[in-house]
Amino acid sequence: MKKIGVLTGGGDAPGLNAVIRAVVKTAISMYNCEVFGIKNGYDGFLEEGGIVPLGMEEVRGILPRGGTILGSANRGNPYARKVIRDGLEVTVDVSDEIVKGIKKLQMDALIVLGGDGTLRIAHELSQKGVPIIGVPKTIDNDIGGTEATFGFDTALNIATEALDRLHTTAESHHRAMVLELMGRDAGFIALQAGVSGGADVILIPEIPFKFASIMSKIHERAEKGRKFSILAVSEGAKPQGGEQVFSRRGDEIYVPRLGGIGQVVGEYIEKQGFESRVTVLGHIQRGGTPTSFDRSLATRYGAAAVRLAAKDGFDRMVALQCGKITDISLEEATAISKRVKLDDDAVITARNIGISFGDE
Ligand code: F6P
Repeated sequence: MKKIGVLTGGGDAPGLNAVIRAVVKTAISMYNCEVFGIKNGYDGFLEEGGIVPLGMEEVRGILPRGGTILGSANRGNPYARKVIRDGLEVTVDVSDEIVKGIKKLQMDALIVLGGDGTLRIAHELSQKGVPIIGVPKTIDNDIGGTEATFGFDTALNIATEALDRLHTTAESHHRAMVLELMGRDAGFIALQAGVSGGADVILIPEIPFKFASIMSKIHERAEKGRKFSILAVSEGAKPQGGEQVFSRRGDEIYVPRLGGIGQVVGEYIEKQGFESRVTVLGHIQRGGTPTSFDRSLATRYGAAAVRLAAKDGFDRMVALQCGKITDISLEEATAISKRVKLDDDAVITARNIGISFGDE
């Protein structure tokens, strides 16, 4: 193994830089290998100056830094890229150009840090002969075959702190405070932060809710003298028989953007005569320094990805299973997205301690 590439695709997540650092350090010190960073996801293969050498100097001091020193792109799907041809904007498949670019560079491996979209593309490029290894990244924790994606723990900590802060102001003003959290179609952030942050109601996409049930919980608390309530609401949550709320519809380039269910829930509570306020935590969950857990997991993933490349373990993704780093095929990792199971211990525990999922 002489030359490897590393790229970061899709939405950023705390820990990306920690993975890049571990890849560079392991590749250089263990395999005496050259490392190249591909800028802005797969786009770097198509852009002038899109590929940069990464040495020890370039990764010095980046372990605690959020974001990615390589940049990312969540419009970077090589199978559907918008380009201007003959003065017109058209969508084209540039995957073959990317494959050619990778082959021309004579890279022995390409390590791709991404969520389900980026990893699906990685699997497809693998089918075209690109030697790819995936690393599971996303605050949503929704990638199959791994117990944890890096970035999730940091998002959880931020969401938990937000719930703690909402608690004190909720109590002072006797309000229902709604916190809308990210996670797309998976409720892991709202569920786990909701439990850790003492939410009274948790709404997640996997458990469609009834508005009336939310109000019963708020009234039940008020009757006991607790005249405030805290609601942790996944952006992908939806009412029974209803639809998810989007702030922007998707197209062939952009995935649909979820957002607005917190406001819907808050307005409903107000209409029922109970004062409410809504906070959308948004990209605060993705920014800033990774937690110790994420730094460590990201470092373990980065080093493991290089070891896997050294033994030609391509078209595979590093994963965490039973607390140990292992690897699974990219096909398996991307086949079924991970979701909260209704018999998950965290769901049962939440119900046991009186948290409502708005479904009863
Ligand atoms: O997948 C990570 C994530 O942060 C989701 O939780 C959220 O729905 C989405 O990305 C937001 O994407 P963008 O950065 O494009 O607004």
